[in-house]
Amino acid sequence: MPRPEHYLVGIDIGTSKVGVLIGHRDETGGVEVVGKGLAPHRGTRRGNVVNVEATVDALKQASEEAEVMAGVEISRAYVGVAGSDIRCVNSRGMVSVTRRDNEIGYSDIQRVLDAAQSVALPSDREILHAIAQEFLVDEQEGIAEPLGMLGGRLEVLVHLVTGQVARTKTLLTCVNRAGIEVVEMVFEPLATAEAVLTPDEKELGVLLLEVGAGTSEYSLFDGGAVQHSGVLPMGASHFTNDLAQVLRTPVAEAEAIKVRQGCCLASMVGDDEGISVQTVAGGPSRVVPKRDICAILQPRAEELLSLVRDDLGKCGWEEAPRGGLVLTGGGAQLEGLLELGEGIFNCTVRYGLPQGLGGLVDVIRSPIWCTASGLLLYGHAAEASQRQKASRGGFSVRNVVGSLKGMFADLL
Ligand SMILES: Nc1ncnc2c1ncn2[C@@H]1O[C@H](COP(=O)(O)OP(=O)(O)OP(=O)(O)O)[C@@H](O)[C@H]1O
Ligand SMILES: [Mg+2]
Repeated sequence: MPRPEHYLVGIDIGTSKVGVLIGHRDETGGVEVVGKGLAPHRGTRRGNVVNVEATVDALKQASEEAEVMAGVEISRAYVGVAGSDIRCVNSRGMVSVTRRDNEIGYSDIQRVLDAAQSVALPSDREILHAIAQEFLVDEQEGIAEPLGMLGGRLEVLVHLVTGQVARTKTLLTCVNRAGIEVVEMVFEPLATAEAVLTPDEKELGVLLLEVGAGTSEYSLFDGGAVQHSGVLPMGASHFTNDLAQVLRTPVAEAEAIKVRQGCCLASMVGDDEGISVQTVAGGPSRVVPKRDICAILQPRAEELLSLVRDDLGKCGWEEAPRGGLVLTGGGAQLEGLLELGEGIFNCTVRYGLPQGLGGLVDVIRSPIWCTASGLLLYGHAAEASQRQKASRGGFSVRNVVGSLKGMFADLL
């Protein structure tokens, strides 16, 4: 009989698809993918659910497919959350160390983390994550684990990810209606980072950009911790819509052209290449030079990449990340995007594919599986950290220190 505690489930509710992965913890401490389910999805807009029924149906379809493949029933899952309502800010907390001998204990760490989260939020917003970037003890910077150190003043810098309560609750309701309990909602790029970035890249400085269908999310890591994140209400479907409008062709035809023959960098397109394009009215198809298609796609690609670069610049990250840019999400597959990114960010660019999992790795070797893969790895690490916490009687401070779990405990 399969034992449920040996399984982990990651659910990625995207604008174009719902992807479900079931992972099995193996004896070596790794995770093997044993089930995969994919269903088309039309229930969200800019990452937020707008049609509960459509989302529940897609969730049921994808999870049933994964269950059949894995031979286990899904009861609980880590669920990705993204969407144009997500905001990310950095915050700082400071407390005096309570013990007379000035040794920093768990309670001091918990208090300083609480202090960093006590920011004024509008009543409709909630903290999704509070991630410790670094601690300072009596102004000494760059401390990852202050427990047991001596000092009078403890400070922490945290990265706060906030979302709109109602939107997150709607997502939670959809998952529950599909018969699944949510273990934790995880901001998607943080999950994806677990599957596509190396610890060295995170230490050196790396930008992860996930180009989904409806939104694009990004997170900048430096010094081993996330420093900045954002969500753009623009993704791969905008490229398709641009093509459909300018070429006056059906959206499905525009999507096929983009995927099979689209390119967003003029210098990569030959002069003599042409593409056959159907007209909306069902009239005879015509041949459009590939250069003209590129002239539609390139401005959108430049806009998307420049918006990310400019946002990072505004937050003090003008320099290109030394570890480069990692592109993922289905939209990252657009021909020429990698090369365009090299020019705009002035750094090396690579594609991110899921790493670090065993089992059915061949079937998830695609940028569309990075988030669900990352959710499995995120869940695996979170549960290992909880076990460590239980055995030490404390908690691990390096990773995620606050999440939606508390809020959901009240709802479930
Ligand atoms: N070769 C390709 N070139 C360009 N775009 C592509 C290619 N292949 C797939 N895509 C796009 O990838 C998108 C799907 O990507 P993905 O699965 O990452 O999105 P999603 O998770 O459903 O959406 P979101 O993350 O925005 O909610 C589709 O919009 C599709 O047009
Ligand atoms: Mg996505």
